[in-house]
Amino acid sequence: MSVTPVTGHGKVTVPEILSRKFPSSPEPSEKSPKITCLTAYDYPTARLLDEAGVDILLVGDSLGMVVLGYENTLPVTLEEMLHHTHAVRRGTRRALLVADMPYGSYHGDPAEAVRNALRLVKESGAEAVKVEGGERRMDVIARLVEAEIPVMGHIGLTPQSLHSLGGFRVQGKTSSAAEKLLRDAHAVAHAGAFSVVLESIPREVATLITAQLPIPTIGIGAGPECDGQVLVFHDLMGMSFGHAPKFARQYADLAGTISRAAAEYIADVRSGGFPADSESYHLPAEVRERVLAGLR
Ligand code: KIV
Repeated sequence: MSVTPVTGHGKVTVPEILSRKFPSSPEPSEKSPKITCLTAYDYPTARLLDEAGVDILLVGDSLGMVVLGYENTLPVTLEEMLHHTHAVRRGTRRALLVADMPYGSYHGDPAEAVRNALRLVKESGAEAVKVEGGERRMDVIARLVEAEIPVMGHIGLTPQSLHSLGGFRVQGKTSSAAEKLLRDAHAVAHAGAFSVVLESIPREVATLITAQLPIPTIGIGAGPECDGQVLVFHDLMGMSFGHAPKFARQYADLAGTISRAAAEYIADVRSGGFPADSESYHLPAEVRERVLAGLR
């Protein structure tokens, strides 16, 4: 098993993630492994993923869809992000903790965006925030960075742009769209972001962006050449409902495990098979008769 090089007592930091952009060899190796990122929304998941060695835990606003049951990410509130980020904070020791800024929390007055991001840092313990959008987010990214809040960018398929994009579709498939993606990527890096998520874009375009940018690219549906990869926890673990995109490789079937366990429990309770005598508490033998006699 490879050992991830990290600074200090193994804590993954923003400078350490940035340093992984310039590996000594172009191939991933023990010294310069690809960056790993997964979403997490609660304490037990954060603990398990952190202890497994993931580099970045992202409290994504996918929270709205995979945990809260919303149809898309647009209704997610800052209060919900604060609540879940705080829970993930309690379960995270080593990984870098990044929180999504929800839709509406950074789209108006930049001063308000800074105030909202500061809440994620001060109240919930996020170490960085993620914002969606390229060129048109340069100002807000620069303002956040100036306030000492590290920023992860996010371009390509940006789910908060659902209505303007007209649905969840692969982006950057024409020359002009690919050129726009390149401009967005450079804008995000120029504004001071320490990394950028590339979502649902052609592998060839992601390869070009990764080669040109001075900051790490974290791909999701963007091919293997990115500097790192991110997946939504519930997709990876087989716990999401509905259509899964083709990049969402499923590593486990937790939905099946949970359904089977719940069905067994229901059958056991109904048949009297649960709880067993060994799973019950008893009166001490020396007082049993006396206590029961007093109760009758
Ligand atoms: O909200 C989220 O989970 C994300 C990832 C898919 C990158 O933005």
